[in-house]
Amino acid sequence: MTERHGDPAYGFETLAIHAGQPPDPSTGAVVPPIYQVSTYKQDGVGGLRGGYEYSRSANPTRDALQECLAALENGARGLAFASGLAAEDTLLRALCAPGEHVVIPDDAYGGTYRLVDKVARRWGLEWNVAPVADPEAVRAAIRPGQTRLVWVESPTNPLLGIADIAALATVAHQAGALLVVDNTFASPYLQQPLALGADLVVHSTTKYVGGHSDVVGGALVAADPEVGELLAFHQNAMGAVAGPFDAWLALRGLKTLAVRMERHCDNAEAVVDLLAAHPRVTAVRYPGLPEHPGHAVAARQMRRFGGMVSFHVEGGEQAALQVCERTRLFTLGESLGGVESLIEHPGRMTHASAAGSPLQVPDDLVRLSVGIESSRDLLADLSQALG
Ligand SMILES: Cc1ncc(COP(=O)(O)O)c(C=O)c1O
Repeated sequence: MTERHGDPAYGFETLAIHAGQPPDPSTGAVVPPIYQVSTYKQDGVGGLRGGYEYSRSANPTRDALQECLAALENGARGLAFASGLAAEDTLLRALCAPGEHVVIPDDAYGGTYRLVDKVARRWGLEWNVAPVADPEAVRAAIRPGQTRLVWVESPTNPLLGIADIAALATVAHQAGALLVVDNTFASPYLQQPLALGADLVVHSTTKYVGGHSDVVGGALVAADPEVGELLAFHQNAMGAVAGPFDAWLALRGLKTLAVRMERHCDNAEAVVDLLAAHPRVTAVRYPGLPEHPGHAVAARQMRRFGGMVSFHVEGGEQAALQVCERTRLFTLGESLGGVESLIEHPGRMTHASAAGSPLQVPDDLVRLSVGIESSRDLLADLSQALG
């Protein structure tokens, strides 16, 4: 990162546009080019121009994204992967050994649960579950000497629970473990876990970072340079890297993250007002609501409360499925964080892999990813779908 373009004193919006992205030295292009290349000419054996040898190990477009992510999350090292789960897999296998243990949240993305339970467990990783909203329950779930990672999401997917990141960092560190925060729902604009004491941040950059539902990607950001180096070794050794075009799309998404997040939050607040007053909605889950049990913590550690809203529908699963199928503007689909609004039924869709586990979600639950369309149109669509 050049000092002029990535000066840490710059504000978030400035770093999002410039960190890791000085004008291209050979052409002056103001946007980092897509270096769609696998290998690089060497000037004599081992004589690398600009340090590049082979694109699994390093690629200039991916480097630009990685530097920008590190700057936005206040980390020592950012690393970009082919998907959020590829980032998670690399993290688990870089930092844990067979026989070690992780504490995972009682509410988490179903794919994270599946990765830990169905893949990493076969490799020898042990796990148990703790409620992220309760630091003392997390402390009780830790196995002294064996627990390597405490893993949380905040807000959680799909129940929008809130973890007190600073309190959990203390709990993890007292037990000699590292705190990992999946910051996908908040994005670095709304919340910076490393500044609150966490050791590692995980992102599905598929979501708010990319922001346009046109790329699948993941990222890790480490607070400590040595941990960052270990992860970088595994990124190269395991090979699940972000390709140049995908890295470029995520980088382009980052440039508008701040303005998009403000609009996501505005629209989510309008949607929450409508849902909270609707007779067919039995409960609304949104950390911005004063009655949300994590509201005070969220208000302390987040800039605003985000674009994700979940709610329970009167009449159980059938009624919830009906609402999901009746919207016209909210598209029925998995994923989140794009400019367009999405609706889904977590129990049957994103979290189907958690059925029968401690992470199973209620069947009357509907999850919204509130986009940046006109809020008037979004409210009209939800009103007609709820009937
Ligand atoms: C909170 C969270 N973390 C991680 C992931 C996994 O990311 P990806 O789908 O990019 O592998 C997801 C995907 O939905 C997610 O919602």
